[in-house]
Amino acid sequence: MATIGVLHPGAMGAAVAGALQQAGHDVSWVVTGRSDATRRRAADVGLHGVPDLATLVGRVDVLVSICPPHAAVEVASAVRSGGFQGCYLDANAIAPATVAEVAEVLGADPVSGTASAGITFVDGGIVGGPDLAAGRTELVLSGEAAGPTAELLAVDQPGIVVLDDRLGTASALKMAFAAWSKGRAALLLGVRAMASAFDVDEALVARWERRGIDAANEADQALATAGRKGWRFAGEMEEIAATFASRGVPDGFHRAAAEVFAAFARDEDARQLGFDGLQRRLAAHGEHAVGSPAIDEPPDRR
Ligand SMILES: NC(=O)c1ccc[n+]([C@@H]2O[C@H](COP(=O)([O-])OP(=O)(O)OC[C@H]3O[C@@H](n4cnc5c(N)ncnc54)[C@H](OP(=O)(O)O)[C@@H]3O)[C@@H](O)[C@H]2O)c1
Repeated sequence: MATIGVLHPGAMGAAVAGALQQAGHDVSWVVTGRSDATRRRAADVGLHGVPDLATLVGRVDVLVSICPPHAAVEVASAVRSGGFQGCYLDANAIAPATVAEVAEVLGADPVSGTASAGITFVDGGIVGGPDLAAGRTELVLSGEAAGPTAELLAVDQPGIVVLDDRLGTASALKMAFAAWSKGRAALLLGVRAMASAFDVDEALVARWERRGIDAANEADQALATAGRKGWRFAGEMEEIAATFASRGVPDGFHRAAAEVFAAFARDEDARQLGFDGLQRRLAAHGEHAVGSPAIDEPPDRR
């Protein structure tokens, strides 16, 4: 049994923390600064709340970071400043280059994750959603301490898989997986927004349906999901783009995907917005609305 801290119990963090607690570990979280939604999730899975980070780092052997990707380095930095000594597992959707940044901040070796300042660093990537009962979610680990960490945590769900002993490979796998799953959602949102602007959305959907292509439903679902999580997906798309660029693979697609997701307000009902509303928002914030005189101008002036 280990003492574990989870930063922070979001949808995914609470699911993982609850599983660790159920496996017999003592799991804590930091109450201060978090929203009512996070407090509710932590209470639902019976986590032990502590007032601040200083208290948490003094009481746990393992820290698990599960937060929005754009906050991963900042969270690690606060943990180091707080004087933590132990094992730090970053399970965020971040680029291998960001993993190296986290290693530097923690004073750990950027290739293996071994400690030189008292913090052993393990890279992690979560593939699958917070519904752990579905049995499809994996926590993939890499780095020299990945094996012992997997043995220590020992939970069935999420399934814990050790990839190899190199820091960054678990995150690279997560980046590749999300590049397709979330990237394709962003592509569909862009397609429907563009089609709406030319008033050909219905005609497009009819052609998909005639060919048995289920893209219309997928796009509707992508719109609803983007309303809830787009604010967080934008950062993840930036991390994916950086991962592509770091190996010379063109990164423009996921930079555009980040722009699409960034158009959503946090926790909005995007079905009210619709694809035409999305297009108007994108056009207002982007530099891409160049117009098409043949279509935009009134018929008498064409
Ligand atoms: N949800 C999924 O299906 C899923 C699947 C695979 C991987 N993941 C990964 O898990 C991580 C978190 O996802 P999630 O679904 O748990 O997100 P979430 O439900 O949005 O929760 C994020 C948590 O982080 C906290 N937070 C927000 N802004 C922060 C900041 N600037 N600094 C530190 N903490 C902050 C939130 O606290 P407050 O809102 O209370 O302030 C909340 O507790 C991401 O890296 C994501 O890629 C998620």
